Amino acid sequence: MKLLLLGSGGREHALAWKISQSPLVDKLFIAPGNAGTRLLGQNVNISATDFAALRQLVLSEGIDMVVVGPEAPLVAGIYDYFRGDDALCHIPVIGPSQAGAELEGSKDFAKGFMQRHAIPTAAYRTFTPETLAAGKDFLRTLQPPYVLKADGLCAGKGVLILPTLEEAERELEEMLGGMFGEASRRVVIEEYLSGIECSVFVLTDGSDYKILPVAKDYKRIGEGDTGLNTGGMGSVSPVPFADSVFMQKVEERIVRPTIAGLKAEGIDYRGFIFLGLIRVDRAYSCAEAGDPMVIEYNVRMGDPETESVMLRIGSDLVDLLQGVAEGNLGERRLVIDPRTAVSVMLVSGGYPGHYDKGFPITGLDTVEESIVFHAGTKVAVAEDGSEQVVTDGGRVIAVSSYGADRAEALAASFRSAQRIVFEKKYFRRDIGSDL
Ligand code: AMP
Ligand code: GLY
Repeated sequence: MKLLLLGSGGREHALAWKISQSPLVDKLFIAPGNAGTRLLGQNVNISATDFAALRQLVLSEGIDMVVVGPEAPLVAGIYDYFRGDDALCHIPVIGPSQAGAELEGSKDFAKGFMQRHAIPTAAYRTFTPETLAAGKDFLRTLQPPYVLKADGLCAGKGVLILPTLEEAERELEEMLGGMFGEASRRVVIEEYLSGIECSVFVLTDGSDYKILPVAKDYKRIGEGDTGLNTGGMGSVSPVPFADSVFMQKVEERIVRPTIAGLKAEGIDYRGFIFLGLIRVDRAYSCAEAGDPMVIEYNVRMGDPETESVMLRIGSDLVDLLQGVAEGNLGERRLVIDPRTAVSVMLVSGGYPGHYDKGFPITGLDTVEESIVFHAGTKVAVAEDGSEQVVTDGGRVIAVSSYGADRAEALAASFRSAQRIVFEKKYFRRDIGSDL
């Protein structure tokens, strides 16, 4: 079959790597893709949210399945766009309907959904500019630190954790005043949860589900989890604290009620669900110490978790995706590779603040013991026609490796990271060391 993958980051390169190994796929297109995905399929220069141009491509190339990497096209309703078009409605889109994408697109919707289905999550209330005073009253009932979340999508910047009441009140006022535009015209204020986080990925056809390997990502720029938040500096899988007792609770208290809740609410959801979980280290009203609670839902795979998780899927991912499309996922087999996988992100110096782009990247072909996934790269063509891969983003390359254990996998990624050279390269050398 012919498959179209949407997106352009490290996550999509990792998905393309896995998808392209499937004997079920004759041709893979990636829109728009990056300098790495072009080695695995055909990049097409169309934005993942340009539905009309994607429609043209799907029809002219005879594409049989669309796999959506990032959230933006899902929140914009690509699933419904295909379903509502006579020429496209038979082509499966792996990803939720627009209603399902609200689990990520609206924090208020996600919190309400969890409340309706008794899924353990932090206590919360939602406020608007009209209810600012009530919001400040609510803040006074909470203990510090204070968690404020813009309702809508903010490219990962919409969550503020504030140490004092004064700062929380001030930020609430600013958010409701339009600090993040429309996205923060509603703000969720919630109880702070203390514990350690992990990412659980579920693939569902709306009834059955498979729980993919659990991963942990590292969000801060600095070692020891310090400094500014980034799009992700590395990931590891498996996660030792997500043991079988913990995962059984995740499945019973979170995964099953989530899928049953979507079904009960009549929401079409055939795709990935990303559970941002926390193993709390003390008791809350709906959990004991050691139990899982939900911090957030996303409606896609995580980045850079995918760059580890794909290494640990031993079976054919496309066979699983076909199970999602055909509604018989329960009949398909998920094999998990017992090895450890890690991914270390090489970033541009200065990121997540100001950084420069366009630096030549060398040494990529000398990497032997890792898998290199491009995140922010592009191909620059010189006047003489020669091609050079150059940096084109803050996060540049994810270096993923297998190992018998975490230390072995990390050592391989760090050795490979040294072979890849570009100006002002930076990476964290402590990925996984907190586990
Ligand atoms: P989110 O965008 O909802 O994932 O939030 C971003 C990050 O903020 C999460 O990964 C957590 O580290 C942190 N966070 C969000 N909500 C809470 C909470 N209720 N308690 C503690 N930390 C939180
Ligand atoms: N790694 C977190 C995310 O993809 O949102």
